[in-house]
Amino acid sequence: MNFPHLIYGGDYNPEQWPEDIWIEDARLMQEAGVNLVSLGIFAWSKIQPTQNEFDFDWLDRLMDLLHAHGVNVNLATPTASPPAWLVRGYPDVLPVTDTGATLWHGSRRHYCPHSISYRKHAAEIAARLAERYTNHPALKMWHVDNEYASGVTECFCDASAAAFREWLKQKYSSLDRLNESWGTTFWSQHYSDWEEIHPPRKAPAAINPSQQLDWARFNSDSWLACFDEQKAILNKFSPNLPVTTNFMGFHKPADYWKFASHEDVVSNDNYPDTFDPEWMVQSGMICDLMRSLGDRHPWILMEQSPTHVNWRQRNPTKRPGVMRLCSYQAIARGADGVMFFQWRASKAGAEKHHSGMLPHGGTDTRVWREVKALGNELPKLDSVLASQVKADVAIVLDWENWWALELDSKPSNDLKLLPQLYAYYKPLFDCNITVDFAHPESDLSRYKLVIAPNLYMVNDSTVKNINRYVENGGNLVMSFFSGIVDQNEQIRLDGYPAPFREMLGLLVEEYAPYPETLTNTIRATNGRSFECMLWSDVIHLKNAKAIASYEQDYYAGSAAITHNTFGKGNAFYVGTVPDKNGMEWLLEQVCRMADIQPISTNAPAGVELLQRVNGNSSFIFALNHSNEKVNVPIERRGSDLLTGTEINGSVALEPSGVAVIQLK
Ligand code: GLA
Repeated sequence: MNFPHLIYGGDYNPEQWPEDIWIEDARLMQEAGVNLVSLGIFAWSKIQPTQNEFDFDWLDRLMDLLHAHGVNVNLATPTASPPAWLVRGYPDVLPVTDTGATLWHGSRRHYCPHSISYRKHAAEIAARLAERYTNHPALKMWHVDNEYASGVTECFCDASAAAFREWLKQKYSSLDRLNESWGTTFWSQHYSDWEEIHPPRKAPAAINPSQQLDWARFNSDSWLACFDEQKAILNKFSPNLPVTTNFMGFHKPADYWKFASHEDVVSNDNYPDTFDPEWMVQSGMICDLMRSLGDRHPWILMEQSPTHVNWRQRNPTKRPGVMRLCSYQAIARGADGVMFFQWRASKAGAEKHHSGMLPHGGTDTRVWREVKALGNELPKLDSVLASQVKADVAIVLDWENWWALELDSKPSNDLKLLPQLYAYYKPLFDCNITVDFAHPESDLSRYKLVIAPNLYMVNDSTVKNINRYVENGGNLVMSFFSGIVDQNEQIRLDGYPAPFREMLGLLVEEYAPYPETLTNTIRATNGRSFECMLWSDVIHLKNAKAIASYEQDYYAGSAAITHNTFGKGNAFYVGTVPDKNGMEWLLEQVCRMADIQPISTNAPAGVELLQRVNGNSSFIFALNHSNEKVNVPIERRGSDLLTGTEINGSVALEPSGVAVIQLK
C-alpha cells in the first residue's frame, strides 16, 4: 500500500441515489477527510442492466467527480449480487441446500461458486471494469466481490458435486487412496466409481467425518478459486494496484490463512456488539487475527458501523466516543486504514436501518460530527503509517483443525474452538500482553510462548513443528483433546495424545466431559482452588509434574494441569477448562517462566495498551474503555500525536479517551 495518510472512508453506494446528491456526497467526503471509498460493490445490475448492455457513463462521471474532490477509489467487482437477468437466463447460478432446496434471487450472495455461467459472467464484468478504469487517476485499489463464504457457505447442486469429484481426484488420484483416507470400510461406505461420491447431502444419520472434512476444504478452496480468477484478471490490467477482498473476522467456512496468502493486503469487516461488556476484547482478538494473517503487515479495517447495525436481534448505538475508540483500536493493532459501511445511510432496501457516516438526519447529527472529527484528526498520525506491532505470544489457529474439531460425533459437542481461544486470549488482553495468531506449521521460533488450544487434528508437519519448537527452548501451553487425529480425521493410535506424549510427559487415558450443569474443582500446588468445566482428561503422569489436580469424581487426586521440560523448553498441558481465576493464575505463571513483559505493569483497569514500531520510531496507543477518567503511567517520555502534549510520567484519559504517544 502506498498512501500518504491513514486510509479513511467507507462503502459508497451512489447507485442508490439520484445524481444531484453525488455532488453533495463528494463535497461532504472532502469535509470529513475521506480519502478512499469502496465503490460499486453491489452495482452489477446498474453497470450491466441486461446481458448485452453495459452502462459505464455514470461510473465514469463518479470516478471523475471523486477524483476532483481528492477522494480515491477502491473499486469493487460487483459479483456478490448477480442481477435478475443472469439468474433468469442461467438458473444454474442459484445455490442449492443440502436438502435440494434452491435459494432464490431477491437478496444477495445467491450464487453457486461452481456455476460455470456465474464464473463466466463474473470474469467478464471484472475484465470490463479493469480495462476501463485501470488508468483512472482515482483508482488506488481493487476490492473483489464481498465477504466470500457468507450467506451461502456451500452449495450442494449437481455442478458442485461434479466439482467436488474433480477436487477429490486431484487430491487422491486413486479411489483406493480415497477409500483408505475416508475409512470407508466403516458402515459399508466403500466406493468403486468416482460417480458414486456425492457431497455430504442430508442423510439419515452421522455422515462420514473425513468426507465432511474434505467437503469443508473443498468449499473453502472453491471460494478462493473465485477470488483468484478475478484477481488474475485485475492483475493483468493493473499489475501495480493492490487487490483485496474483505474478511469477516473468525469466519469458519473460509481458510483465511490461504486467502491472505493470495491477497496483496488483508482487509476486514468488524462489527462488535457493544452491548457485550467484553466487546473490546472480542474486537481486539479479531484485529490481532488480521495482523497475523497478513504476516504483521498493515491491514485495513474495511467496514465497521458508524453507530448501530440492523442485523442483530437488538442493535446498540455506539455511545459518544465509542466509534473513535473502535477505530483507534484497529490502528493500535496494526491497521493503516479505517473505513465504514456505509457512506450515506440508505433510503430503501434491507439495510435502511443500518447507520451510515452520513445519517438520514444529515450533518446536524452527533454521528456526522464524530465521523468528521475523526477524519480530520487521523492525518496527525502520518508517522504511524507502515509501523508494525510485535508480539511475543502466539495462539495457534488452524482452520482445518477448527472444521475437524467441530464435526459431529465427538465426546462432547459442546466443545467449540472460539470460546477456548478466547479463554486464553482474554487474560492476556486484560494485562496488555499482545498476542498474534499463528498457523501451526509456521515458524514459531519467533515467539517466547505458544498456546495451542484444542489442536485436535494435526498432520505430520505440525507434529514436528510443535515438538521441535519446545525442544529448541520454546514454551508451550497445549490444552485437552489435542493431537488426537491425523489430517484424514483418523485416530493417531498409541495412547492420547500420541504425537505429543513424549514432549508433554504424560498419557491421557480417557476423557470425561461434563454436562452444562456439572463442574469439578482443581487444586493448584500452591494451595489455590479453581472451578473447572466442560471436560476433564484423566491423565497418567510419565515425566511431567502436576501443577494442579482434580478434587472430585473418580479421578480425584490425579493431574489436571501439568508441566514437563522437554529438550530446552517447557510444555504445559491443560486437561480441562479452568475458570477465569484459574486461567489467570495459569497464564501468570507461564508468562513469568517465558519472560513475557506486558506493555505496562501498572495500567489502570479498562485501559488497553499497544505498541507500534517502525525502525527507531515507537508509538504507544492508550485506549480508555472504562467509564472513569484515568491516569495512565507511561514509563518513557514522548508526545501525544493527537493533542501535541508532552508526556512525562503519565497521560490522563477521559472515558473513551485515546492517546497516541510517540516515544522520544
Ligand atoms: C457486511 C457487508 C456490507 C453490509 C454490512 C452491514 O459487512 O459487507 O455490505 O451488509 O455487513 O453491517
